[in-house]
Amino acid sequence: MARTPVTVIGLGLMGQALAGAFVRAGHPTTVWNRTPGKADALVGAGATEAPSVEAAVAAAPLVVVCVRDYDAVRALLAPAEAALSGRVLVNLTSGASDEARELAGWAAERGADYLDGAIMMTPPGIGAPETVILYGGPPSLYETHEQTLVTLGGASTLISHDVGLPAVYDVALLGIMWSTFNGFMHAAALMETEKISATAFLPMATGWLKGVASFLEVYARQIDDGSYTAVDASLETQIPPVRHLIHESRTRGIDTSLAELTERLITEAVGRGHALDSYARVIDHFRPSTR
Ligand SMILES: NC(=O)c1ccc[n+]([C@@H]2O[C@H](COP(=O)([O-])OP(=O)(O)OC[C@H]3O[C@@H](n4cnc5c(N)ncnc54)[C@H](OP(=O)(O)O)[C@@H]3O)[C@@H](O)[C@H]2O)c1
Repeated sequence: MARTPVTVIGLGLMGQALAGAFVRAGHPTTVWNRTPGKADALVGAGATEAPSVEAAVAAAPLVVVCVRDYDAVRALLAPAEAALSGRVLVNLTSGASDEARELAGWAAERGADYLDGAIMMTPPGIGAPETVILYGGPPSLYETHEQTLVTLGGASTLISHDVGLPAVYDVALLGIMWSTFNGFMHAAALMETEKISATAFLPMATGWLKGVASFLEVYARQIDDGSYTAVDASLETQIPPVRHLIHESRTRGIDTSLAELTERLITEAVGRGHALDSYARVIDHFRPSTR
């Protein structure tokens, strides 16, 4: 079956991975990058390097852009505006929801269809069946190009007709990732003081994370229902353990700021009269209406 010709603009670490996946899957692939020299390996693998960004846009009906930020997308596409008409612009550059919505409007004014995507993976995972790219845009447009787009991430999905929503999912998921990383770094530093290496501690930590994920199922339901009665551990009972974490950390010279934040979140909620509620009640701290 003939594969759809594609263009990939931006050949940083991610753009090279995207273009490489298209080439490997047999898509006629045109590439372009602002700074020359980054296309050599791709050309060796079968891609075609366009002489200009206009030529790159004109070379394929589906144009994937993945550069540093939205300002870069606008700057590089400006000279290729005329060539955009009738094409599908798939922007996989990370950014904010309002930037995605503005760019979709800008593309529409130039006669281009638009899909926005958030890549939830690092470059080595591009093309893998389990890789997720979250898309926003018109469902019929996504369906038309789904077979081509799943080449980049086999578990990709359209989450909304709103092109801004992938950016919100992106930062929400990254926030969970960084909080988890920080908790692990604190714990590993603590274990280190007992001469327990991070790798020796790891199996215990990853097993614990599975249990933590199961708590989230309960908390998500409670948040949606607005009913927070503790069925596991009340907020009140979590004050002593978090203070133990602060004590064990402080006496070993380990930074206590994460643990102190947790203590503050819990004691604030208890102070608002929620001592017997579950940890899910802490969501009030983050909500705009209760801040
Ligand atoms: N790497 C990851 O793990 C990852 C994961 C998810 C999402 N992303 C997102 O993917 C995008 C690209 O990331 P990356 O890792 O490929 O970054 P990168 O390796 O730093 O590459 C940046 C790319 O942007 C181009 N660029 C920067 N400013 C430009 C401008 N003003 N005009 C034209 N091109 C410009 C660069 O071109 P030059 O070569 O000419 O400098 C290069 O192709 C970012 O939005 C990033 O957040 C990355």
